[in-house]
Amino acid sequence: MVRQIALKFFIDRQGKQVEIFSDSGTNFMGVNNFLKSFEYESIGKKRKTQKISSESFGNCYQREIPPPGPMTSLSGALPNGYCPRKERGCQISRGDPFPTKRPLVEGNISLEYYVNYCIILRKETHQRINNIAHPSVALQFRKFERFTMENLSYTVRLMTKEDVPQTLEVWRSTGMQEGTHCLYTWLEVDKEAFNVAVTDSGEIIGVCCAVIHHPNFAFVGVYAVLEKYRGYGVGKKVWDACMKHIGTINVALNAVPGKLELYRDKGGFPIVESRWTCVVNETEEPINHEALSNEVPDGIDIVPFQESHLLAIFEYDFALIGYDRKLAVELNCKEFDSKTFVAIKGDNCVGFGTIKRSCHNVGQVGPLYADDPAVAEVMLRKLIESHTDVKGFAMMTISSNAPANDFIKKIGCPTTEECPRLYKKEKVEVDTDKVFAHFDLNFSPY
Ligand SMILES: CC(C)(COP(=O)(O)OP(=O)(O)OC[C@H]1O[C@@H](n2cnc3c(N)ncnc32)[C@H](O)[C@@H]1OP(=O)(O)O)[C@@H](O)C(=O)NCCC(=O)NCCS
Repeated sequence: MVRQIALKFFIDRQGKQVEIFSDSGTNFMGVNNFLKSFEYESIGKKRKTQKISSESFGNCYQREIPPPGPMTSLSGALPNGYCPRKERGCQISRGDPFPTKRPLVEGNISLEYYVNYCIILRKETHQRINNIAHPSVALQFRKFERFTMENLSYTVRLMTKEDVPQTLEVWRSTGMQEGTHCLYTWLEVDKEAFNVAVTDSGEIIGVCCAVIHHPNFAFVGVYAVLEKYRGYGVGKKVWDACMKHIGTINVALNAVPGKLELYRDKGGFPIVESRWTCVVNETEEPINHEALSNEVPDGIDIVPFQESHLLAIFEYDFALIGYDRKLAVELNCKEFDSKTFVAIKGDNCVGFGTIKRSCHNVGQVGPLYADDPAVAEVMLRKLIESHTDVKGFAMMTISSNAPANDFIKKIGCPTTEECPRLYKKEKVEVDTDKVFAHFDLNFSPY
Protein backbone atom coordinates (compact mmCIF):
# COMPACT_ATOMS: atom_id res chain seq x y z
CA MET A 1 0.00 0.00 0.00
CA VAL A 2 2.79 2.37 0.92
CA ARG A 3 4.43 1.65 -2.40
CA GLN A 4 1.24 2.34 -4.26
CA ILE A 5 0.71 5.63 -2.50
CA ALA A 6 4.30 6.59 -3.11
CA LEU A 7 4.04 5.89 -6.80
CA LYS A 8 0.70 7.61 -7.18
CA PHE A 9 1.96 10.55 -5.21
CA PHE A 10 5.01 10.73 -7.33
CA ILE A 11 3.08 10.62 -10.57
CA ASP A 12 0.75 13.23 -9.25
CA ARG A 13 3.64 15.55 -8.57
CA GLN A 14 5.74 14.91 -11.62
CA GLY A 15 3.21 13.92 -14.21
CA LYS A 16 2.79 10.57 -15.76
CA GLN A 17 6.04 9.22 -17.04
CA VAL A 18 6.88 7.97 -20.45
CA GLU A 19 9.28 5.37 -19.11
CA ILE A 20 10.26 4.08 -15.76
CA PHE A 21 13.61 2.43 -15.46
CA SER A 22 14.46 0.21 -12.60
CA ASP A 23 17.21 -2.11 -11.61
CA SER A 24 16.71 -5.73 -12.63
CA GLY A 25 18.10 -7.14 -9.43
CA THR A 26 16.75 -10.20 -7.78
CA ASN A 27 15.66 -8.73 -4.46
CA PHE A 28 12.15 -7.70 -3.63
CA MET A 29 10.40 -10.13 -5.88
CA GLY A 30 7.15 -9.15 -4.21
CA VAL A 31 7.32 -5.81 -5.91
CA ASN A 32 6.74 -7.65 -9.14
CA ASN A 33 3.30 -8.59 -8.02
CA PHE A 34 2.66 -5.11 -6.80
CA LEU A 35 3.48 -3.64 -10.17
CA LYS A 36 1.40 -6.19 -11.97
CA SER A 37 -1.59 -5.18 -9.92
CA PHE A 38 -0.81 -1.48 -10.07
CA GLU A 39 -3.39 0.38 -12.12
CA TYR A 40 -0.87 2.39 -13.98
CA GLU A 41 -3.01 3.03 -17.03
CA SER A 42 -5.77 4.46 -14.94
CA ILE A 43 -3.61 7.18 -13.53
CA GLY A 44 -3.33 10.63 -15.04
CA LYS A 45 -5.01 9.76 -18.31
CA LYS A 46 -4.40 13.25 -19.59
CA ARG A 47 -0.68 12.62 -19.47
CA LYS A 48 1.16 10.67 -22.11
CA THR A 49 2.47 7.48 -20.70
CA GLN A 50 3.71 4.75 -22.93
CA LYS A 51 5.47 2.03 -21.11
CA ILE A 52 7.23 0.78 -18.10
CA SER A 53 10.55 -0.82 -18.78
CA SER A 54 13.05 -2.55 -16.64
CA GLU A 55 16.71 -1.88 -16.72
CA SER A 56 19.60 -1.78 -14.34
CA PHE A 57 20.58 1.73 -13.39
CA GLY A 58 22.49 3.17 -10.52
CA ASN A 59 20.72 4.63 -7.55
CA CYS A 60 19.32 8.05 -7.26
CA TYR A 61 16.67 9.40 -4.98
CA GLN A 62 14.37 12.32 -4.82
CA ARG A 63 14.61 13.82 -1.39
CA GLU A 64 11.77 16.20 -1.98
CA ILE A 65 8.96 13.68 -2.26
CA PRO A 66 7.26 13.81 1.09
CA PRO A 67 6.81 10.09 1.37
CA PRO A 68 3.96 8.79 3.42
CA GLY A 69 4.50 6.35 6.22
CA PRO A 70 7.88 4.72 6.59
CA MET A 71 9.33 6.42 3.55
CA THR A 72 9.74 9.57 5.58
CA SER A 73 12.79 8.03 7.12
CA LEU A 74 14.55 7.97 3.79
CA SER A 75 15.52 11.56 3.44
CA GLY A 76 17.34 11.35 6.73
CA ALA A 77 19.18 8.30 5.54
CA LEU A 78 20.60 9.90 2.42
CA PRO A 79 24.14 11.19 2.30
CA ASN A 80 24.66 14.72 3.49
CA GLY A 81 24.07 17.37 0.92
CA TYR A 82 22.66 14.86 -1.51
CA CYS A 83 20.18 16.67 -3.66
CA PRO A 84 19.04 14.72 -6.66
CA ARG A 85 17.33 17.74 -8.17
CA LYS A 86 20.75 19.12 -8.93
CA GLU A 87 21.37 16.00 -10.92
CA ARG A 88 18.91 16.63 -13.66
CA GLY A 89 20.38 15.38 -16.86
CA CYS A 90 23.22 13.80 -14.99
CA GLN A 91 24.24 10.40 -16.20
CA ILE A 92 23.10 7.49 -14.14
CA SER A 93 25.53 4.65 -14.35
CA ARG A 94 24.22 1.32 -15.44
CA GLY A 95 24.65 -1.65 -13.22
CA ASP A 96 26.15 0.26 -10.40
CA PRO A 97 25.99 -0.12 -7.50
CA PHE A 98 23.69 -3.09 -7.95
CA PRO A 99 25.02 -4.99 -10.93
CA THR A 100 22.41 -6.98 -12.73
CA LYS A 101 22.96 -10.31 -14.36
CA ARG A 102 19.62 -10.26 -16.08
CA PRO A 103 19.10 -8.97 -19.58
CA LEU A 104 17.20 -5.80 -20.17
CA VAL A 105 13.66 -6.55 -21.23
CA GLU A 106 11.83 -3.66 -22.71
CA GLY A 107 8.26 -3.51 -21.58
CA ASN A 108 8.96 -6.02 -18.86
CA ILE A 109 6.92 -5.54 -15.75
CA SER A 110 9.35 -7.30 -13.46
CA LEU A 111 10.59 -4.18 -11.81
CA GLU A 112 11.82 -5.88 -8.71
CA TYR A 113 13.71 -2.87 -7.64
CA TYR A 114 11.01 -0.51 -8.56
CA VAL A 115 10.16 0.44 -5.07
CA ASN A 116 13.80 0.44 -4.09
CA TYR A 117 14.59 3.10 -6.52
CA CYS A 118 13.48 3.92 -9.97
CA ILE A 119 14.29 6.59 -12.42
CA ILE A 120 11.55 8.49 -14.07
CA LEU A 121 12.08 9.97 -17.47
CA ARG A 122 10.37 13.05 -18.76
CA LYS A 123 8.76 12.38 -22.10
CA GLU A 124 10.02 15.29 -24.14
CA THR A 125 13.64 15.10 -23.15
CA HIS A 126 14.06 11.60 -21.81
CA GLN A 127 15.88 13.30 -19.02
CA ARG A 128 16.00 11.45 -15.77
CA ILE A 129 14.23 13.62 -13.30
CA ASN A 130 13.44 11.69 -10.22
CA ASN A 131 12.97 8.47 -8.46
CA ILE A 132 11.45 7.00 -5.40
CA ALA A 133 12.78 4.50 -2.99
CA HIS A 134 11.80 2.07 -0.33
CA PRO A 135 13.07 2.48 3.23
CA SER A 136 14.61 -0.95 3.19
CA VAL A 137 17.29 0.26 0.83
CA ALA A 138 18.06 3.43 2.65
CA LEU A 139 21.13 1.93 4.20
CA GLN A 140 22.37 0.87 0.82
CA PHE A 141 22.32 4.48 -0.25
CA ARG A 142 24.69 5.13 2.56
CA LYS A 143 26.96 2.29 1.56
CA PHE A 144 27.06 3.27 -2.09
CA GLU A 145 27.12 7.00 -2.06
CA ARG A 146 26.31 7.94 -5.59
CA PHE A 147 28.91 9.53 -7.74
CA THR A 148 28.11 13.06 -8.81
CA MET A 149 30.36 15.58 -10.45
CA GLU A 150 30.15 17.70 -7.30
CA ASN A 151 31.95 15.07 -5.28
CA LEU A 152 34.34 13.83 -7.98
CA SER A 153 37.86 14.98 -7.37
CA TYR A 154 40.71 13.37 -9.28
CA THR A 155 44.14 13.99 -10.71
CA VAL A 156 45.86 12.80 -13.85
CA ARG A 157 49.34 11.38 -13.36
CA LEU A 158 51.77 8.83 -14.78
CA MET A 159 50.89 5.19 -14.18
CA THR A 160 53.29 3.26 -11.95
CA LYS A 161 53.93 -0.49 -11.87
CA GLU A 162 51.80 -0.70 -8.75
CA ASP A 163 48.90 0.83 -10.67
CA VAL A 164 48.96 -1.83 -13.39
CA PRO A 165 46.36 -4.26 -11.95
CA GLN A 166 43.81 -1.49 -11.32
CA THR A 167 44.54 0.14 -14.67
CA LEU A 168 44.09 -3.15 -16.49
CA GLU A 169 40.78 -3.51 -14.71
CA VAL A 170 39.60 -0.21 -16.26
CA TRP A 171 40.44 -1.58 -19.69
CA ARG A 172 38.96 -4.99 -18.90
CA SER A 173 35.68 -3.32 -17.96
CA THR A 174 35.27 -2.24 -21.61
CA GLY A 175 35.09 -5.92 -22.58
CA MET A 176 38.14 -5.61 -24.82
CA GLN A 177 41.13 -7.92 -24.74
CA GLU A 178 44.62 -7.25 -23.44
CA GLY A 179 47.33 -9.53 -22.11
CA THR A 180 47.52 -9.78 -18.34
CA HIS A 181 51.15 -8.57 -18.32
CA CYS A 182 51.47 -6.44 -21.46
CA LEU A 183 51.09 -3.19 -19.54
CA TYR A 184 54.28 -4.01 -17.62
CA THR A 185 56.09 -4.64 -20.90
CA TRP A 186 55.08 -1.36 -22.51
CA LEU A 187 55.61 0.61 -19.32
CA GLU A 188 59.18 -0.66 -19.37
CA VAL A 189 59.54 0.38 -23.02
CA ASP A 190 58.33 3.91 -22.24
CA LYS A 191 58.05 4.83 -18.57
CA GLU A 192 56.04 7.95 -19.35
CA ALA A 193 53.64 6.32 -21.79
CA PHE A 194 50.66 5.74 -19.49
CA ASN A 195 48.55 8.40 -17.86
CA VAL A 196 45.85 7.51 -15.39
CA ALA A 197 43.05 9.51 -13.76
CA VAL A 198 42.96 8.74 -10.05
CA THR A 199 40.31 9.87 -7.58
CA ASP A 200 41.28 11.31 -4.20
CA SER A 201 40.40 7.96 -2.67
CA GLY A 202 42.92 6.23 -4.97
CA GLU A 203 40.55 4.67 -7.48
CA ILE A 204 41.85 4.58 -11.05
CA ILE A 205 38.97 5.67 -13.25
CA GLY A 206 40.60 6.37 -16.60
CA VAL A 207 43.67 5.54 -18.65
CA CYS A 208 45.38 6.37 -21.91
CA CYS A 209 48.75 5.31 -23.23
CA ALA A 210 51.08 6.70 -25.87
CA VAL A 211 54.24 4.61 -26.27
CA ILE A 212 57.11 6.33 -28.03
CA HIS A 213 58.59 3.61 -30.26
CA HIS A 214 61.32 5.79 -31.70
CA PRO A 215 61.96 9.53 -31.89
CA ASN A 216 59.55 9.95 -34.79
CA PHE A 217 56.79 7.54 -33.96
CA ALA A 218 54.38 6.73 -31.14
CA PHE A 219 51.37 4.48 -30.72
CA VAL A 220 48.22 5.30 -28.71
CA GLY A 221 45.99 2.76 -26.97
CA VAL A 222 44.11 1.57 -23.88
CA TYR A 223 42.04 4.74 -23.95
CA ALA A 224 39.22 4.07 -21.50
CA VAL A 225 37.24 5.54 -18.63
CA LEU A 226 35.10 3.55 -16.22
CA GLU A 227 31.56 3.70 -17.52
CA LYS A 228 30.06 5.70 -14.67
CA TYR A 229 32.65 8.46 -15.07
CA ARG A 230 32.31 8.87 -18.82
CA GLY A 231 31.17 12.11 -20.32
CA TYR A 232 32.69 14.35 -17.64
CA GLY A 233 35.99 15.23 -19.28
CA VAL A 234 38.08 12.53 -17.59
CA GLY A 235 38.98 10.81 -20.86
CA LYS A 236 40.02 14.01 -22.57
CA LYS A 237 42.33 14.84 -19.68
CA VAL A 238 44.24 11.56 -19.80
CA TRP A 239 44.28 11.80 -23.59
CA ASP A 240 45.72 15.33 -23.49
CA ALA A 241 48.41 14.23 -21.04
CA CYS A 242 49.45 11.53 -23.51
CA MET A 243 49.42 13.95 -26.43
CA LYS A 244 51.66 16.28 -24.44
CA HIS A 245 54.06 13.39 -23.84
CA ILE A 246 54.48 12.63 -27.55
CA GLY A 247 54.54 16.22 -28.78
CA THR A 248 54.48 16.65 -32.53
CA ILE A 249 55.78 13.28 -33.75
CA ASN A 250 53.80 10.90 -35.94
CA VAL A 251 51.29 8.76 -34.03
CA ALA A 252 49.04 5.83 -34.90
CA LEU A 253 46.07 4.19 -33.24
CA ASN A 254 43.34 1.65 -33.93
CA ALA A 255 39.82 2.97 -33.46
CA VAL A 256 37.04 0.75 -32.18
CA PRO A 257 33.97 0.95 -34.44
CA GLY A 258 32.13 4.16 -33.69
CA LYS A 259 35.22 6.09 -32.59
CA LEU A 260 36.67 6.71 -36.06
CA GLU A 261 35.06 10.15 -36.33
CA LEU A 262 36.22 11.15 -32.86
CA TYR A 263 39.87 10.54 -33.68
CA ARG A 264 39.75 11.67 -37.29
CA ASP A 265 37.66 14.81 -36.89
CA LYS A 266 38.41 15.92 -33.33
CA GLY A 267 41.54 14.09 -32.24
CA GLY A 268 43.88 15.18 -35.03
CA PHE A 269 44.27 11.80 -36.77
CA PRO A 270 43.24 12.69 -40.33
CA ILE A 271 44.94 9.81 -42.15
CA VAL A 272 42.86 6.63 -42.29
CA GLU A 273 44.29 3.40 -43.67
CA SER A 274 41.99 2.48 -46.55
CA ARG A 275 43.52 -0.82 -47.70
CA TRP A 276 42.94 -2.84 -44.55
CA THR A 277 41.51 -2.83 -41.05
CA CYS A 278 42.45 -4.64 -37.86
CA VAL A 279 40.17 -7.63 -37.45
CA VAL A 280 39.24 -8.66 -33.93
CA ASN A 281 38.63 -12.41 -33.66
CA GLU A 282 37.72 -13.70 -30.23
CA THR A 283 35.71 -16.32 -28.44
CA GLU A 284 35.31 -17.69 -24.97
CA GLU A 285 34.31 -21.05 -26.44
CA PRO A 286 36.73 -23.85 -27.29
CA ILE A 287 38.22 -23.65 -30.76
CA ASN A 288 39.17 -26.44 -33.15
CA HIS A 289 42.92 -25.94 -33.45
CA GLU A 290 43.31 -29.45 -34.87
CA ALA A 291 41.91 -28.13 -38.13
CA LEU A 292 45.24 -26.36 -38.60
CA SER A 293 48.13 -28.05 -40.39
CA ASN A 294 50.96 -29.51 -38.36
CA GLU A 295 53.25 -30.13 -41.33
CA VAL A 296 56.33 -28.01 -40.90
CA PRO A 297 57.87 -27.05 -44.27
CA ASP A 298 61.17 -28.73 -45.09
CA GLY A 299 64.30 -27.25 -43.56
CA ILE A 300 62.44 -25.35 -40.86
CA ASP A 301 62.17 -26.05 -37.15
CA ILE A 302 59.48 -24.51 -34.99
CA VAL A 303 60.69 -24.61 -31.41
CA PRO A 304 59.86 -23.06 -28.03
CA PHE A 305 61.64 -19.77 -27.38
CA GLN A 306 65.02 -19.78 -25.66
CA GLU A 307 67.30 -16.92 -24.70
CA SER A 308 69.73 -18.04 -27.42
CA HIS A 309 67.12 -17.20 -30.09
CA LEU A 310 66.97 -13.54 -29.17
CA LEU A 311 69.54 -12.17 -31.60
CA ALA A 312 67.94 -13.95 -34.54
CA ILE A 313 64.51 -12.75 -33.46
CA PHE A 314 65.73 -9.15 -33.14
CA GLU A 315 67.13 -9.30 -36.66
CA TYR A 316 63.90 -10.72 -38.04
CA ASP A 317 61.76 -8.15 -36.26
CA PHE A 318 63.96 -5.26 -37.39
CA ALA A 319 63.83 -6.42 -41.02
CA LEU A 320 60.04 -6.65 -40.87
CA ILE A 321 59.11 -3.57 -38.82
CA GLY A 322 61.90 -1.24 -39.88
CA TYR A 323 63.08 0.02 -36.49
CA ASP A 324 64.67 -1.40 -33.37
CA ARG A 325 62.19 -2.97 -30.95
CA LYS A 326 64.64 -5.14 -29.01
CA LEU A 327 63.32 -4.26 -25.58
CA ALA A 328 59.65 -4.75 -26.46
CA VAL A 329 60.36 -8.02 -28.28
CA GLU A 330 62.50 -9.46 -25.49
CA LEU A 331 60.02 -8.51 -22.77
CA ASN A 332 57.22 -9.99 -24.85
CA CYS A 333 59.05 -13.31 -25.22
CA LYS A 334 59.60 -13.41 -21.45
CA GLU A 335 56.20 -12.12 -20.36
CA PHE A 336 54.59 -13.93 -17.46
CA ASP A 337 51.89 -16.37 -18.53
CA SER A 338 52.97 -16.39 -22.17
CA LYS A 339 54.54 -18.87 -24.58
CA THR A 340 56.63 -17.98 -27.61
CA PHE A 341 57.67 -20.20 -30.52
CA VAL A 342 60.38 -19.45 -33.04
CA ALA A 343 60.72 -20.69 -36.61
CA ILE A 344 64.35 -21.38 -37.39
CA LYS A 345 65.93 -22.06 -40.78
CA GLY A 346 69.66 -22.70 -40.45
CA ASP A 347 70.80 -19.93 -38.11
CA ASN A 348 68.05 -17.54 -39.09
CA CYS A 349 64.69 -16.74 -37.63
CA VAL A 350 61.95 -16.95 -40.26
CA GLY A 351 59.09 -16.19 -37.94
CA PHE A 352 58.00 -16.05 -34.32
CA GLY A 353 54.77 -15.99 -32.40
CA THR A 354 53.46 -15.58 -28.87
CA ILE A 355 50.32 -16.64 -27.03
CA LYS A 356 49.40 -15.11 -23.68
CA ARG A 357 46.58 -15.14 -21.19
CA SER A 358 44.27 -12.19 -21.74
CA CYS A 359 42.48 -10.16 -19.09
CA HIS A 360 39.34 -12.12 -20.05
CA ASN A 361 41.19 -15.38 -19.56
CA VAL A 362 41.38 -16.42 -23.19
CA GLY A 363 44.56 -17.40 -25.04
CA GLN A 364 45.49 -14.33 -27.03
CA VAL A 365 47.89 -14.77 -29.96
CA GLY A 366 50.12 -11.87 -30.93
CA PRO A 367 52.51 -11.24 -32.47
CA LEU A 368 52.52 -13.95 -35.13
CA TYR A 369 54.99 -13.12 -37.87
CA ALA A 370 56.34 -15.45 -40.54
CA ASP A 371 57.74 -15.32 -44.05
CA ASP A 372 55.63 -18.28 -45.11
CA PRO A 373 51.91 -18.85 -44.34
CA ALA A 374 52.60 -22.59 -43.97
CA VAL A 375 55.00 -21.79 -41.12
CA ALA A 376 52.52 -19.39 -39.54
CA GLU A 377 49.80 -22.05 -39.62
CA VAL A 378 51.85 -24.69 -37.83
CA MET A 379 53.13 -22.13 -35.37
CA LEU A 380 49.57 -21.04 -34.56
CA ARG A 381 48.65 -24.65 -33.86
CA LYS A 382 51.66 -25.13 -31.61
CA LEU A 383 50.92 -21.91 -29.74
CA ILE A 384 47.34 -22.94 -29.02
CA GLU A 385 48.45 -26.43 -27.96
CA SER A 386 51.00 -24.95 -25.60
CA HIS A 387 48.54 -22.79 -23.68
CA THR A 388 45.75 -25.09 -22.61
CA ASP A 389 44.91 -23.44 -19.30
CA VAL A 390 42.56 -20.88 -20.86
CA LYS A 391 38.95 -21.03 -21.90
CA GLY A 392 38.92 -19.38 -25.30
CA PHE A 393 40.92 -17.67 -27.99
CA ALA A 394 41.67 -14.23 -29.42
CA MET A 395 43.80 -13.09 -32.32
CA MET A 396 43.81 -9.76 -34.11
CA THR A 397 44.50 -10.12 -37.82
CA ILE A 398 44.87 -7.75 -40.75
CA SER A 399 41.91 -7.86 -43.13
CA SER A 400 44.16 -8.03 -46.19
CA ASN A 401 46.11 -11.05 -44.95
CA ALA A 402 43.94 -13.81 -46.43
CA PRO A 403 45.79 -16.85 -45.02
CA ALA A 404 45.61 -15.43 -41.48
CA ASN A 405 41.86 -14.94 -41.78
CA ASP A 406 41.53 -18.45 -43.21
CA PHE A 407 43.22 -19.85 -40.09
CA ILE A 408 40.63 -18.07 -37.99
CA LYS A 409 37.82 -19.60 -40.03
CA LYS A 410 39.38 -23.06 -39.87
CA ILE A 411 39.51 -23.07 -36.08
CA GLY A 412 35.95 -21.72 -35.86
CA CYS A 413 36.71 -18.47 -34.07
CA PRO A 414 34.17 -15.69 -34.73
CA THR A 415 35.18 -12.24 -35.91
CA THR A 416 33.70 -9.65 -33.58
CA GLU A 417 34.70 -6.29 -35.03
CA GLU A 418 36.98 -4.42 -37.37
CA CYS A 419 39.00 -1.45 -36.21
CA PRO A 420 40.29 1.14 -38.66
CA ARG A 421 43.91 2.34 -38.39
CA LEU A 422 44.53 6.08 -38.18
CA TYR A 423 47.66 8.22 -38.28
CA LYS A 424 48.47 11.76 -37.35
CA LYS A 425 51.03 12.50 -40.07
CA GLU A 426 51.81 9.54 -42.30
CA LYS A 427 51.21 5.85 -42.69
CA VAL A 428 53.70 3.33 -41.38
CA GLU A 429 54.13 0.59 -43.96
CA VAL A 430 55.32 -2.98 -43.47
CA ASP A 431 54.89 -6.19 -45.44
CA THR A 432 51.50 -7.10 -44.02
CA ASP A 433 51.63 -10.51 -45.75
CA LYS A 434 54.07 -11.50 -43.00
CA VAL A 435 51.89 -10.23 -40.17
CA PHE A 436 49.46 -13.02 -39.28
CA ALA A 437 48.59 -11.53 -35.91
CA HIS A 438 49.18 -8.03 -34.61
CA PHE A 439 51.68 -7.73 -31.80
CA ASP A 440 49.13 -5.77 -29.76
CA LEU A 441 46.29 -3.51 -30.93
CA ASN A 442 46.89 -1.10 -28.04
CA PHE A 443 50.61 -0.63 -28.23
CA SER A 444 52.15 -1.42 -31.56
CA PRO A 445 51.47 -0.62 -35.22
CA TYR A 446 51.88 -4.28 -36.30
C1 LIG B 1 36.43 7.01 -25.28
C2 LIG B 1 36.36 7.38 -23.80
C3 LIG B 1 37.68 7.01 -23.15
C4 LIG B 1 36.13 8.88 -23.67
O1 LIG B 1 36.19 9.22 -22.30
P1 LIG B 1 35.15 10.25 -21.63
O2 LIG B 1 35.63 10.57 -20.29
O3 LIG B 1 33.79 9.69 -21.76
O4 LIG B 1 35.28 11.50 -22.62
P2 LIG B 1 35.25 13.01 -22.14
O5 LIG B 1 34.11 13.20 -21.20
O6 LIG B 1 36.57 13.41 -21.63
O7 LIG B 1 34.95 13.81 -23.47
C5 LIG B 1 34.84 15.21 -23.34
C6 LIG B 1 34.89 15.83 -24.70
O8 LIG B 1 36.17 15.58 -25.28
C7 LIG B 1 35.99 14.91 -26.50
N1 LIG B 1 37.04 13.91 -26.60
C8 LIG B 1 37.20 12.79 -25.88
N2 LIG B 1 38.25 12.12 -26.30
C9 LIG B 1 38.79 12.82 -27.32
C10 LIG B 1 39.88 12.62 -28.17
N3 LIG B 1 40.64 11.53 -28.08
N4 LIG B 1 40.16 13.55 -29.08
C11 LIG B 1 39.38 14.65 -29.20
N5 LIG B 1 38.31 14.89 -28.43
C12 LIG B 1 38.03 13.98 -27.50
C13 LIG B 1 34.63 14.27 -26.44
O9 LIG B 1 34.12 14.05 -27.74
C14 LIG B 1 33.87 15.29 -25.67
O10 LIG B 1 33.55 16.35 -26.54
P3 LIG B 1 32.13 17.12 -26.41
O11 LIG B 1 32.17 17.75 -25.05
O12 LIG B 1 32.18 18.06 -27.54
O13 LIG B 1 31.10 16.05 -26.52
C15 LIG B 1 35.19 6.64 -23.11
O14 LIG B 1 34.03 6.93 -23.79
C16 LIG B 1 35.36 5.13 -23.01
O15 LIG B 1 35.98 4.62 -22.09
N6 LIG B 1 34.79 4.38 -23.98
C17 LIG B 1 34.86 2.92 -23.94
C18 LIG B 1 36.22 2.44 -24.33
C19 LIG B 1 36.57 2.85 -25.75
O16 LIG B 1 35.77 2.66 -26.65
N7 LIG B 1 37.78 3.38 -25.94
C20 LIG B 1 38.24 3.78 -27.22
C21 LIG B 1 39.07 2.68 -27.80
S1 LIG B 1 39.61 3.12 -29.44
